[in-house]
Amino acid sequence: MAETVLIPRMIDECHRLLQEHIPAGGFAIDATAGNGYDTAFLARLVGPEGKVWSFDIQQAAIDSTRNRLESLNLAERVLLVPDSHSRMADYVPANLAGSISGIAFNLGYLPGSDKQITTRVPTSLEAVRHSLQLLSADGILTVTVYPGHAEGTREGDALLALIPEFEQAGWLIRIHRVPDPKSAAPFLLTYQRKKT
Ligand SMILES: C[S@@+](CC[C@H](N)C(=O)[O-])C[C@H]1O[C@@H](n2cnc3c(N)ncnc32)[C@H](O)[C@@H]1O
Repeated sequence: MAETVLIPRMIDECHRLLQEHIPAGGFAIDATAGNGYDTAFLARLVGPEGKVWSFDIQQAAIDSTRNRLESLNLAERVLLVPDSHSRMADYVPANLAGSISGIAFNLGYLPGSDKQITTRVPTSLEAVRHSLQLLSADGILTVTVYPGHAEGTREGDALLALIPEFEQAGWLIRIHRVPDPKSAAPFLLTYQRKKT
């Protein structure tokens, strides 16, 4: 059964875990670029010798992320992909499957934008399955879920329901929650290979 870990702040914990797993010169994926905060964080971690692939289906998000990266002089480390994360395996070279140290999903919609353009259960689940195939032996997948809107609730329920299947397949999954959360509070799921 997945362990539940209480944490003070969702974003800090997510970034702390990614930092623990992604070495300089490594490879990472931001599955939901949005305004590029997470992509910039990952680009700093991989350093000038590493590479980040950053996906978003909205051109506005890709543009916003590019602007942020350029202003921080990080653009050369990032390949921006204007496509769904469910097709990530088409963009990451096949010889890098099993070499990606960190993959981050920040589910939901672009803040301040059309809330109808949001991550959705079928594509999110497909992308999580691809992610697990791309992760390195010591890598980590982080998925931040926002059950405060209808599709976010469905995504959270679907991901929680899949935990037994993934545990059976050799994944260590933790559920990170802030203390005394409201029922709709965001939570973080992390996936790592079980050590044998
Ligand atoms: C909560 S925002 C991400 C915030 C971002 N990580 C940041 O640091 O600013 C979620 C993003 O997921 C994007 N998105 C929705 N469906 C997607 C899909 N199938 N593939 C990739 N991105 C998607 C949305 O367009 C939105 O920009």
